[in-house]
Amino acid sequence: MSNLSRRNVLSLGVALGLASAAGVVPAWASTGAQAAAGTDPWWVWDDEVDRLMAGVLDTGGVPAVNTALRPWVNNGDPLPTGLPTDLAAYLQQNNRLPSWADPVKLRRAADFNRRKDTYLFMLYGLGSGIMSTVIPREAKSVYWSAGGANMQDRAAKTFTFGYDLSDLNAFQPSGQFVVTANKTRLVHAAVRHLLPQSPHWRAVADEQIPISNGDILVTFHSLGTYVHRKLLEWRVPMSAADEEAFLHQWQVAIHLLGVRDEFIPKTWAEADAQSTRVLTPLLSPTTEGKELAQDLLGLTAQIDLGVTRGFLNEFVRYVLSDAVGDWLGLPRDYAAAALVRTGWPAYIAFREGLLPIAPAGFYLFDQFIRAIAMLFLNKVSSPTTTPITIPTGNRPG
Ligand code: HEM
Repeated sequence: MSNLSRRNVLSLGVALGLASAAGVVPAWASTGAQAAAGTDPWWVWDDEVDRLMAGVLDTGGVPAVNTALRPWVNNGDPLPTGLPTDLAAYLQQNNRLPSWADPVKLRRAADFNRRKDTYLFMLYGLGSGIMSTVIPREAKSVYWSAGGANMQDRAAKTFTFGYDLSDLNAFQPSGQFVVTANKTRLVHAAVRHLLPQSPHWRAVADEQIPISNGDILVTFHSLGTYVHRKLLEWRVPMSAADEEAFLHQWQVAIHLLGVRDEFIPKTWAEADAQSTRVLTPLLSPTTEGKELAQDLLGLTAQIDLGVTRGFLNEFVRYVLSDAVGDWLGLPRDYAAAALVRTGWPAYIAFREGLLPIAPAGFYLFDQFIRAIAMLFLNKVSSPTTTPITIPTGNRPG
């Protein structure tokens, strides 16, 4: 799957903060027996909802389902009317937190997200967001699905997920995350039915059905696991309880996206080891990913970040490594690179009260980080609708 040698995988993993002490060992083994037994995450999808959404798509019912779902926003809202009976019954069953969700940890996670929001916006937006373009399966799926044709709109929808997850009331009845996660689960189920019908996707894909449990775990590592490692690497103060809460929030999130509980890492050590095995070795450039990265960076460049495009490119290289920057063809700006390398650690130290005097470049970084946060916070939807809608087709070509 990857064009990286074992040695390059290790050094890339270290640069991304994704290599664990476990070193690189083969990804989940894919024996026929495991696949048949449903114990291999690469061969597990989301059977019940996949079947329901295939039925809705095949009978032309998506526009009506989207209309019904639009006003359904808060976790505490009753299920909307106008859904097919079987889909309504499915949502009735699944639109709830798992029994093992710990409200105290979720509350702490929400508070942690609030305290560290600027770093989180930065890392999710520029780190995880751009990393998704060098995860080949994700890049190809996103590019060839309907949303790939309009990355501005798609990015806004994806931000909704992060925004709702990071909200102080995310998991409370007045929060929106549980509903957003369920809508996302429906979208993924639709994509599993639609993409195999795309000749363009079929021509480049190395799989027959996209978005397995394994793929979702890979994306989780590019989000939660990556961000956690970066916060540690940047020495952002976090208590053990904060770290645990941050993991717990992600465990609940991927459960709600349909990942089976037995595949979900129980500790950060397990997550790091899994990430080393399944994410780092498959990172690789693709034609689709390069185009998506340019779209995404062009999007952030549209707003005034208070920095040059060269600075933005170098910041991406700083958080994702030069290997990734080279894959994506990000032009070098060595002066900006030096500023980021020396200025960013000092900026964090000052913000966290570990440096008495504001370092040079403080205001530049401050403006940059605030602009990225605003991009993230400018939720495109109104408070009473979420923009996530089920697609009816693929990208035409
Ligand atoms: C749609 C989040 C994993 C491919 C979405 C949406 C969200 C989302 C919020 C709805 C927004 C939209 O319609 O564009 C996530 C999260 C994941 C995850 C949080 C894991 C933690 C994956 C994976 C793949 C994938 C692993 C593919 C390998 C897609 C595609 C769409 C989509 C193709 C539909 C885009 C469209 O046509 O509109 N995802 N996703 N996602 N996701 Fe995911």
